[in-house]
Amino acid sequence: MSEGAAKKEEKPRKFQAIRGTRDLLPPETALWNRVEQTAHEVFSNFGFGEIRVPIFESTDLFARSIGAETDVVSKEMYTFGGFEEFSAKVREGMLSEMSPEEMISLRPEATASVCRAYIEHGMQQLPQPVKLYYMGPMFRRERPQKGRYRQFYQIGAEVLGGSDAPAIDAEVIEMVMTFFDRLELQGVQLDINSIGDRNCRPKYVELLRTELLKVKDKLGPDSQRRIETNPLRVLDSKLESEQGIIATLPRIADHLCEDCAAHYAAVKHQLEMRGVIYRENWRLVRGLDYYMRTTFEITARGLGSQNAVCGGGRYDGLVELLGGPPTKGIGFAIGEDRLILSLQESGKGPAQQGRDVYIAWMGERAHATAIRAAKDLRKAGFSVELPPVEQKFGKALGQADKLGAKYALILGDNEVSEGLWTLKTLADGSQAKFTEPDLLDHLRKSKRVSS
Ligand code: HAM
Repeated sequence: MSEGAAKKEEKPRKFQAIRGTRDLLPPETALWNRVEQTAHEVFSNFGFGEIRVPIFESTDLFARSIGAETDVVSKEMYTFGGFEEFSAKVREGMLSEMSPEEMISLRPEATASVCRAYIEHGMQQLPQPVKLYYMGPMFRRERPQKGRYRQFYQIGAEVLGGSDAPAIDAEVIEMVMTFFDRLELQGVQLDINSIGDRNCRPKYVELLRTELLKVKDKLGPDSQRRIETNPLRVLDSKLESEQGIIATLPRIADHLCEDCAAHYAAVKHQLEMRGVIYRENWRLVRGLDYYMRTTFEITARGLGSQNAVCGGGRYDGLVELLGGPPTKGIGFAIGEDRLILSLQESGKGPAQQGRDVYIAWMGERAHATAIRAAKDLRKAGFSVELPPVEQKFGKALGQADKLGAKYALILGDNEVSEGLWTLKTLADGSQAKFTEPDLLDHLRKSKRVSS
């Protein structure tokens, strides 16, 4: 091997975040925190409590609830062996024989986990309905693009209990709209639909399949496949060439059973009573198997093709399917990444957060005073930058400027021996001297004026 080649090999590998994942950095993280704080406030105003569920669960839990044939479960989950079972199978050389119950997956969503937790903790004993919300990362192996990631964040809520009163559906939707309103999210559009129940949906799906078979040749390969696997998903198609055909298909609203039609009408009435503006969208079917009756999706401005910022719906019977008592359920999840993108696009992102005070100190005695000043100012709620090593004043002021500090507190030998500290306002370069208590007072007053 030549010397050059050996040198090349020594070069350490440059690590990068895995495709579809990303780092969230300041100042953007301040916006994430504001969004999450607002969610805590609004959701607790509506009587919801926070639940934190694990990041991974049995693969079987997701397969049973979301549906083994759905894209999410069949193509997008990060699945691996449960550690003990996995090492045992490796030792026995029988890895390929692991059954789905022994596998675990990173959660692609949290509704299934919340239902599992409802059963596991006997929450049916609590006053009903139980109203829970959550926030955190979810994982789906999708093709990454703007607004679509493999690790993304959701803020969601679920209502579980004995009642499927349409007012519950409407209040859940009202809550998410209130949240978006509080954040001043722009271009919010709520679409709603009812996809029927066990009574009426199978008949509608059959009718749809029959009609789709008549026009099969005019459809693309994805839709052709879906005629067999899940005809409802054809309605989701964004293919330009299929739009004319889809417009002529039978609509579920005309095929709901009496109970579902009455429920849907009442949900709409309840939304109107709450002043929530909606659009009916008969093509809104959603991609997860557990839904029935009410489904909804919310889009917002500035997101391109991935513009759904929230999706949700009713899932009565899911808790039973997972071995729990008969339970009604409805909920939603907001894509937090997309919500943040939309807020940023409309200029609602936070400005670079500057420090309040940069302490420019010189000399050992001044250093001790600077440490004490930093402690007191931080205690009083100011953001303070205290340089770890001595700097010439000119350099320190330049650094204060770069960090967007409002003030530089200048502490040299003179200031310390006189007990008069110099405060420089960086915006206009003005300077004034203060005693220690006066300085704190002055800063407090000017903070009150600016906030
Ligand atoms: P979902 O429609 O699969 O529903 O996801 C909800 C939202 O999560 C989407 O509208 C989107 O904003 C965001 N999202 C989904 N996948 C990605 C991704 N790869 N990158 C970025 N954002 C994404 C659910 O997850 C249901 N669990 C919602 C629910 C709760 N239904 C009833 N309760």
